[in-house]
Amino acid sequence: MRLSLLGPPGAGKGTQAVRLSADLKLPHVATGDMLRAAIAAGDPVGIEAKRRIDRGALVPDETMVQLVKQRLAKPDCAAGVLFDGFPRTVAQADALEKVVRLDRVVLFEVAAAALVERLGGRRVCSKCGRNFHVRFAPPKAAGACDACAGALIQRDDDREEAIRNRLQVYEEQTAPLAAYYDARKTLRRVDAAAPPDRVYESLRRALG
Ligand code: AP5
Repeated sequence: MRLSLLGPPGAGKGTQAVRLSADLKLPHVATGDMLRAAIAAGDPVGIEAKRRIDRGALVPDETMVQLVKQRLAKPDCAAGVLFDGFPRTVAQADALEKVVRLDRVVLFEVAAAALVERLGGRRVCSKCGRNFHVRFAPPKAAGACDACAGALIQRDDDREEAIRNRLQVYEEQTAPLAAYYDARKTLRRVDAAAPPDRVYESLRRALG
């Protein structure tokens, strides 16, 4: 099974992908996480990407396609994969189609106002990367990760101006992928404004 979760920043793709990947035993390929790992490792790709990520712009298609091709070549992706945040442009979708065909693309639909609230309140563990939210998914102890006790931080691109840019970039460059996959009859939509457990149920139904 080759799946992709599509949707605006803050729609809950990462939150749902962690659960779905464990349940379906599919590798979770999150391009945002891959870029943040490259930044943390001081890789040239990460250093180049950081400036763009922090201001809410996309990383160039060639860089992303190269990263994903390398990831797909690993043995754990042979039987299937769960993409989170890829493809994000029509050029990326075209490039992916030359390597593998997606069976399902699930579009997460949430109103813009809710996205701003989700992103503004998101906190991530600086050690294990787990997601929290100050209101919707608070940690048991303030400022500390439930899983590993690492310090919770705010992503640089979760600040107001970057959030605005990311939402605009999504509308301009990523939203056209809904029509792209609709035309291929692979697109399913879920109401991602509901609480996480309900979104997960809709997601499983959408996958059939
Ligand atoms: P990336 O990390 O992929 O960011 P994104 O797509 O903008 O998605 P987010 O991680 O912000 O949101 P999400 O939908 O995963 O929501 P989450 O589950 O965390 O990419 C970052 C950057 O890297 C991009 O801007 C770009 O620069 C670059 N990049 C990455 N991939 C690229 C590509 N393919 N091409 C080019 N550039 C690329 O949830 C958000 C918050 O809401 C959390 O706090 C969570 O607890 C809470 N929440 C989740 N679900 C719910 C719910 N149902 N109800 C209430 N709260 C909820």
